[in-house]
Amino acid sequence: MLIHIPALLSADEVGHFRAVLEAAAWTDGRVTAGAQSAMAKNNLQIPEDAAEARQLGAIILDKLGRNEAFVAAGLPLRVFPPLFNRYDEGMGFGAHVDNTIRFSGPVRFRTDLSSTLFLTDPADYDGGELVVMDTYGEQKVKLPAGDMVLYPASSVHRVETVTRGSRWASFFWAQSMVADDGRRALLYQMDQAIQTLAAQVGLDHPSVVSLTGAYHNLIRMWGET
Ligand code: NI
Repeated sequence: MLIHIPALLSADEVGHFRAVLEAAAWTDGRVTAGAQSAMAKNNLQIPEDAAEARQLGAIILDKLGRNEAFVAAGLPLRVFPPLFNRYDEGMGFGAHVDNTIRFSGPVRFRTDLSSTLFLTDPADYDGGELVVMDTYGEQKVKLPAGDMVLYPASSVHRVETVTRGSRWASFFWAQSMVADDGRRALLYQMDQAIQTLAAQVGLDHPSVVSLTGAYHNLIRMWGET
């Protein structure tokens, strides 16, 4: 399941992000890749512990915590500090799956969800699509600056070679309370249907109360905290 989250950042915020990133020191992106993905990867990143990454990452984490779609679709348990990458002309990232286990300092966590937050207007570059393989085939994603996509970290994905301009983005992983993509998709479907139903018949309708109870009890059954 791919979820498009529009306008996580406003145009002004994207401008602020880009100004901070302009001044940052970019390094070879292979430092965060596993052995297989390092072979396929060709991009630039801001080091994980750079002040710019921490400062902008904190803004993203704050927004995510208040974003209904991210919370409902991802059921996040913890979010890895956001990282920043850039694909200049000729750069891309071949097909790979992200590492399952990551460390943030001493904290070890499982990557269930991958995210890309786009920071460049699509008109400013050619190529650079994020291509995710899902159950329905290949999904090509190229979003307005400030929008993000959330997809299962278990998916094979790639970034097409940029043929003009430069594609800047933030990317990050989250561990979900519900590890299994299929279960998470069902819970999201149920959450959306309950909200639609509640808008029609009221939050206190016995069916809404019952379905809401079932939703929470499924999280209790499948989730970890
Ligand atoms: Ni990846």
